Amino acid sequence: MKQSTEVLSIEAETIARTGIIRYYPMVVSKGQGARLWDVDGREYIDFSSGGCVANVGYCHPRIVRAISEQAARLTHSCFTVCSNDRTPILAEKLIGLLPGNYEKKIWFGLSGSDANDWIYKILPKATGRQKLVSFIGNYQGQTMGAAALSGLLPQKRFLSVSNVVHIPYPYCYRCPLGHNQKDCSQECFTFFSNYLSGSICAPDEIAAFVFEPIQGDSGIVVPPPQYIQKLLEFCRQNSILMVVDEVLSGIGRTGTWWSCQQLGIEPDLVVIGKALASGVPISAIGGRKDLLDAMTASHHVTCGGNVLASAAGLETLAIIEEENLLANAKEMGKLILKRMDKIRINHQIVGEVRGIGLLIGIEIQEGDDPSNKMAHKIVYACWQRGLLLYYLGLFGNVLIIVPPLVIDNHQMEKGLEILDEALGLVEQGKISDEDIRAFAAW
Ligand SMILES: Cc1ncc(COP(=O)(O)O)c(C=O)c1O
Repeated sequence: MKQSTEVLSIEAETIARTGIIRYYPMVVSKGQGARLWDVDGREYIDFSSGGCVANVGYCHPRIVRAISEQAARLTHSCFTVCSNDRTPILAEKLIGLLPGNYEKKIWFGLSGSDANDWIYKILPKATGRQKLVSFIGNYQGQTMGAAALSGLLPQKRFLSVSNVVHIPYPYCYRCPLGHNQKDCSQECFTFFSNYLSGSICAPDEIAAFVFEPIQGDSGIVVPPPQYIQKLLEFCRQNSILMVVDEVLSGIGRTGTWWSCQQLGIEPDLVVIGKALASGVPISAIGGRKDLLDAMTASHHVTCGGNVLASAAGLETLAIIEEENLLANAKEMGKLILKRMDKIRINHQIVGEVRGIGLLIGIEIQEGDDPSNKMAHKIVYACWQRGLLLYYLGLFGNVLIIVPPLVIDNHQMEKGLEILDEALGLVEQGKISDEDIRAFAAW
């Protein structure tokens, strides 16, 4: 097997920069549970789940078996034109897990992006209402419909006009309207309902609100319950659909199957992806039958609802249930918040620590200002010491702790110890600008 340096030099010559983000020079070789190894044999604790995908851990023996057995029978049959014996069963299982007491169906695709393209394409047609409302800081993906729904500059710069209106999200720690959390009266919502909806986006033109119940890429932003109440009321009063993007936050990550359940939201549609099949590509939209049946054969991809991915998906959902991973996510999440309460006392650069279950964000700041550079240095120092995590955020300064839901106490404690040490090293200036220069990600 080639060593990291050799692989990375081949990568530098061959792999398109448009498709990659790098936080550190790691070449992964194998995984097990919440641990990964690089090609040089170094072991790491993983706080990233490979982008919130490895919820049941890496190479779970049941997933390995399910994939191997399915691969030996059939890897592809083009579900768009011919059914198979796994995909409808996965749909049936998913329907049983979705919130809402109404008739449901499932659409299958390949990625969170193509699922959000469904929302962008179909909902205006299915409802006869042209506008979609999304939030500043939302991330729905890279394809054009998903990019139109996203409220982040890296996606927006490819679009000129669209029918999506973006409104402020209640990012209370860095309130877009400059309020502090104690005197907040949800003016960000009032701004929308009194001002925007009276000038550029009339309520009876809005097909749906599309949003991540807990914003992921913008830095694990949890909205206050009062805000969600106002939003729900507004949707009910104006017959506006509620679409939740659970691509990152779903499949058990917050300790319930869907993060919208933590906020008391009963959506019309749920967008699903990432962890659904433990890394075998598949995405889904689940929810109201009338919407999902609205336009026959109008959004499909050749490998969508693939049989191999469906087999892996069925096994993933079974493992989460049978190994009580929702309970573990809750318990481990509490442990992180408790330990971080202590860790932050010694580190001025740690701001708010927030999240639910194993979806936790840590604000890194210099004074009160978000610090992208410090966040990157911490992530780099963690990698050097055997802990993998990423940073994200509207300001690129939020460390995200999203380990596999199978992580145990010992691994969690060890990972947080490394994080504590890395915070100290960065504060003392022990990681240089030069160390991270080649890897600046966001
Ligand atoms: C909330 C959310 N929606 C959609 C997507 C897009 O999913 P994919 O990268 O599979 O296209 C992501 C990816 O990070 C996401 O976090």
